[in-house]
Amino acid sequence: MIEQTFVALKPDAVQRGLTGEIIKRFEQVGMKIVAMKMVWVTPEFSKKHYREHVDKPFYKGLEEFIIQGPVIGMVLEGVSSVDTVRKMVGSTEPKSAAPGTIRGDFSHHSYSYADQKGIPIKNLIHASGNKKDAEYEIALWFTKSEMHNYKTVHEVHTQ
Ligand code: CDP
Ligand code: MG
Repeated sequence: MIEQTFVALKPDAVQRGLTGEIIKRFEQVGMKIVAMKMVWVTPEFSKKHYREHVDKPFYKGLEEFIIQGPVIGMVLEGVSSVDTVRKMVGSTEPKSAAPGTIRGDFSHHSYSYADQKGIPIKNLIHASGNKKDAEYEIALWFTKSEMHNYKTVHEVHTQ
């Protein structure tokens, strides 16, 4: 039941100074940060990370957005972490993301607004969609030596 998931704080989260606010939420629920680093994503790396979206019409704007500034990548570990983190992140479209979610609390643009302006949807954060994607993304972003093994207080007090 304990599993790992991959999260990236996109350039808008870094540039808006929201990384602490977002990471705090994961720490608050007891997720364990197993790995973390700041990376400037290249177009080649973006195509590997977003391999399922490369041929979609929105990919060009997405790539321009994701390579536009540094990103913070991290691996979070916890009970059903893939689903829990997705729930905390909220819907892809900020306008539809529920209050209380990261996207719902810190962004509000709609698909139609972004399309009309010809700008990408800036929704602050990426989180793996399922366990298989999580395994692929963790291996893409981190080497084994960048993954850290330690005990959190939750492992001591919430067994
Ligand atoms: O990130 P999430 O898994 O919620 O959504 P996705 O469907 O996997 O799409 C990946 C990313 O592409 C989104 O987070 C958006 O940044 C972007 N996207 C977009 O700009 N316009 C769309 N119509 C769909 C996705
Ligand atoms: Mg996705």
